[in-house]
Amino acid sequence: MNKRKILVPLGNKSYEVIIEEGILNNICEELLKIGISKNRKILVISNEEISSLYGEKFLNHLKKNNFKAQIFLIKAGESHKNLKTLNEIYDVAFEFGLDRNSIIIALGGGIVGDVSGFAAATWLRGIDYIQIPTTLLAMVDSSVGGKTAVNHPKGKNLIGAFHQPKAVFIDPETLKSLPKREFNAGMAEVIKYGVIRDKKLFDFLEIENNKNALINLENESLIEIINGSIKTKSHIVSQDEHELGIRAILNYGHSFGHVIENLCGYGEFLHGEAISIGMNIAGEIAIEKGLWSKEELERQQNLLESYNLPTKIPKINKEDVVKILMGDKKVRDGKMRFILPKEIGEVDIYDDVEDSLFLKFFS
Ligand code: GLY
Repeated sequence: MNKRKILVPLGNKSYEVIIEEGILNNICEELLKIGISKNRKILVISNEEISSLYGEKFLNHLKKNNFKAQIFLIKAGESHKNLKTLNEIYDVAFEFGLDRNSIIIALGGGIVGDVSGFAAATWLRGIDYIQIPTTLLAMVDSSVGGKTAVNHPKGKNLIGAFHQPKAVFIDPETLKSLPKREFNAGMAEVIKYGVIRDKKLFDFLEIENNKNALINLENESLIEIINGSIKTKSHIVSQDEHELGIRAILNYGHSFGHVIENLCGYGEFLHGEAISIGMNIAGEIAIEKGLWSKEELERQQNLLESYNLPTKIPKINKEDVVKILMGDKKVRDGKMRFILPKEIGEVDIYDDVEDSLFLKFFS
């Protein structure tokens, strides 16, 4: 079966994620199906690289089908995920006359999705938007769940809002143009779902034939893992949209991942690569606390490394680690919270991890 639909059940904010090979060429039909009529203006937001591959074609497709659409390209890279870029979007939104009935479509990776989502959350106090993620990481994580944000000079994603999309359309064909390193970085998030909630997915990923199919970007296997990842995400988000509790488990590996991104400079490691190291640190802490087995940590490490993901901790200073951890959004009432594995497919949230337990991994 080449088409999958996953409902994200959130009452009157519910929406579907549709995964289908070639869906990008069929988007007008999909828009009409979810009630986006041709009289609603559409602002497509993308970046230059994605636009040269898919954006122009996508815009022409909308226009040929009489949708009133325009495209705006933001600069690529984490350093442009900021209020300046957001202001540029507002200027374009004003000039194009985006009204309360208009739509923003985010076409691209996580940065495009996060910034566009936040623009949609704030323009005219909130308009509809649709996510069309083109990277594996955005497909399995950031496009689903309604977290939107830009960075503040003091930290990642500090300015943002929860704003759910109207729909998410995923075309695995777009992964064919994704640089290998970025594909692998997305695999870190897929492996994360295996460890936190889905042993079956983890087992699937360990099978050599499946690994080869994924490395060769075979659509059937890609759809399988994207579908599995989003099912878990949907299930968790529907229980805790605003991350007051269980949703925090989606941040497995992210506390130390953010530390590494922050202290090594964004760019040295891709997000997924930093998460891979963060998952390894969380695993080591779980072993120190007597929660997890060495054998399962090794399985996690082997799987991450089979996608060329780093697992070794870079040299970073202990005091800086604590400073960044304390500034993280995940700190609650002054306590650091860690997501630690108990077995493959099960993690829990702990706020009783002694500093000494993780500081020994840093210089
Ligand atoms: N990326 C984690 C979440 O959406 O909660």
